[in-house]
Amino acid sequence: MDNSITASHAQGKGKEPDSVFAVLKKSKDAIAVLGKDKVINAVIGSIYDDKGKFATLPSVNEYFRQIPAEEMMDYAPIAGIPEFLEAAINYTFQDYKPENVFIRAVSTPGGTGAVRHSFFNYAEQGQKVLIPDWFWGPYRTIAEEHGIKVDTYAMFDENYTFSVSSIKQKSEELLTVQDKLVILFNTPGHNPTGYSMTEKDWAELLDFYKHCAKNKQKKIVIVLDVAYIDYVGKPSETRKFLKLLGGLPENILITIAFSMSKSFTMYGMRSGAIIGLTSSQEEADEFSRVNSYSSRGVWSNGTRGAQRLLADVMKNPVLRAKIDAERENYIQLIYHRANIFLNEATEIGLVTLPYHGGFFITVPSQDPKAAAEKLAQDNIYVVPLKKGLRFAICALPTYQIPGLATKTKAVL
Ligand SMILES: Cc1ncc(COP(=O)(O)O)c(C=O)c1O
Repeated sequence: MDNSITASHAQGKGKEPDSVFAVLKKSKDAIAVLGKDKVINAVIGSIYDDKGKFATLPSVNEYFRQIPAEEMMDYAPIAGIPEFLEAAINYTFQDYKPENVFIRAVSTPGGTGAVRHSFFNYAEQGQKVLIPDWFWGPYRTIAEEHGIKVDTYAMFDENYTFSVSSIKQKSEELLTVQDKLVILFNTPGHNPTGYSMTEKDWAELLDFYKHCAKNKQKKIVIVLDVAYIDYVGKPSETRKFLKLLGGLPENILITIAFSMSKSFTMYGMRSGAIIGLTSSQEEADEFSRVNSYSSRGVWSNGTRGAQRLLADVMKNPVLRAKIDAERENYIQLIYHRANIFLNEATEIGLVTLPYHGGFFITVPSQDPKAAAEKLAQDNIYVVPLKKGLRFAICALPTYQIPGLATKTKAVL
């Protein structure tokens, strides 16, 4: 629209429908006509139980419902209830809090808000942030919404093996044309592949960034999106790499996008935090200041009830153990589903990207759109990505999984 009333920078936004919600609508339409049992809806990134019912952690639900009205309805401080901030940090690191580092947190509406603050407050306007080539679509939306461009690094080599070489190469490339590098890693249990970076990957990358940071002109911000950290195994395995994040040069900042959405099945309650790690006290104070200011200017404060819940859970070992046990059931359920799909894929020679845990499995494809459309003709709904098909095994009742890999191979 040449003559649109919309401001020029906002014109044209949203013309391309969100790929997940577009397929979800088709899937729901099919369910309305054919019924739940006849449709495979592998689209949405929330856990559904084997009866096809939205899954919650019962103890979270129960506790949440008895929080006093004033703790639920009142405003929270802009940065978040202090006890929540401490709880978010303690929950994120558990036994793996790094040393020689200042750690701060500011509440955000989910991990999304933390990614937003990381991009907007640390990338220069008009410059590029680096994200993986297999990526959660909103990273691009969040960047573009804030006047920032994205570039991608390749996660895997031609044999679909994870490799740090493209990460290093792209980082170097960007650092020659920009003084600020904001690079995002979504691990463990990456969306959409389920890949988890190893401690060895981290050690190598951190050495590389320490080397880049010798040029003090350069500022490096590593954004860690850990939305699926609780669905890839025991905390003693999944959080180990966090211990490596201390003692970095002052021109490296780590931001962690902490989310209560999956870990507490509280997706709609919109709660999380941006956690910052830096060796400089001055940077740490600046981190709290700029991110709180941004919150005030974008969404104001966070959801008080959700903050209260996390603060209380972290002080109540009995409740916490109950929640952990309930979550464990779902972790096992998702692994069980994943194994059925992956074992069948191996048997019939269907290539999948390396899956270690989390909500999704991805199958690479030359023409994902066409493949997804063919599957839809068989009432199988999956999300076509740029280079593959995403299967939300978190949402698929177990009985619908046998045969799915075979049908997928057939349409490829
Ligand atoms: C990769 C990834 N990061 C972050 C999020 C953030 O979710 P929320 O804003 O609900 O915490 C999601 C949710 O689907 C995700 O898949």
